[in-house]
Amino acid sequence: MQTLLTDSTHEAAAIIRRGGIVAFPTETVYGLGASVFDSDAVGRVFTAKGRPSDNPLIVHVCDLEQIEQLVELVPDHARLLIDAFFPGPLTLVMKRRASVPEIVSAGLETVAVRMPANRTAIELIRSAGVPLVAPSANLSGRPSPTTWQAVIEDLDGRIDAVLRDVPCTIGIESTVVDVSTEPPMILRRGAITVDELRDVVPDILEFLSDSDRSRLSPGTRHRHYSPNAQVLIVNSSDVPLPDVEAFIGITQPSEPPELTVICESITEYAARLYEFFRECDRLGGRRIACESVEESGVGAALMDRIRRAAE
Ligand code: TXA
Ligand code: MG
Repeated sequence: MQTLLTDSTHEAAAIIRRGGIVAFPTETVYGLGASVFDSDAVGRVFTAKGRPSDNPLIVHVCDLEQIEQLVELVPDHARLLIDAFFPGPLTLVMKRRASVPEIVSAGLETVAVRMPANRTAIELIRSAGVPLVAPSANLSGRPSPTTWQAVIEDLDGRIDAVLRDVPCTIGIESTVVDVSTEPPMILRRGAITVDELRDVVPDILEFLSDSDRSRLSPGTRHRHYSPNAQVLIVNSSDVPLPDVEAFIGITQPSEPPELTVICESITEYAARLYEFFRECDRLGGRRIACESVEESGVGAALMDRIRRAAE
């Protein structure tokens, strides 16, 4: 299969309407899109990524009406979160309508929904005329792509097209909250922080045991976010480290390794982490170091991703 590169949302939408699968930008990471109501196309999304079929997909909408096509009822606390954070990097898990194909939810009774805060993504969904499933547009087990070039690196020849745009601004995936339960439960940390969520829904639960988490959020069961190199987590007092080929963090090392990425903020660190992992793989790095940061705000999601990469 020839993978088309395009800058046109209309061309990309036409491919999706014909049953194609197209990678597109969001504010978090690039997604691999297909019509939610086209089971064959959704099946090809799983195949292209090499994604286990027990790992459900997030459905992306461009307006509130499209949410009604996916779920029977929006619970009151979900309504509050939607008012506060849509469009934005928040995914809500709700009871699904029977018309949502089972393959989307991997057999669960629920469906995950999010409205991306990215003009190109919204234009694409509107022009396609249907909500779009979109997992991150990487091969399963690789870091999520934050540039269209990273999508091509993983999926060239496996998908119909890539809708090209600028690099993603946030760089780590959305926060996932299950609002089908009372109280709601955070299943994946992300750019919307626990404190921001609690300002709107105070009783939201944060911590899950590993077994609860893998039962409720199948995606967290699988290996994720991992470069080929061994990842060491280091404190600022340990910077620099001997014997690493690459470093990313906030503190300037006195003897920087060959690949060194210094970030001015935790937000910038999050935005650059996955591309750093990919660059390490391109250079064939064997041992790399990530500086740990305080687990507040986006730092909590960032450390979650770094820890998974280091597992
Ligand atoms: O920022 C993001 O969320 C990106 C962009 C493209 O929107 N998408 C993304 O998709 O990260 P993916 O497929 O890589 O991760 C989806 C996560 C997985 O952990 C999956 O298990 C969980 O959402 N998920 C999806 N549907 C679910 C459901 N019905 N119940 C529980 N967890 C669900
Ligand atoms: Mg993913």
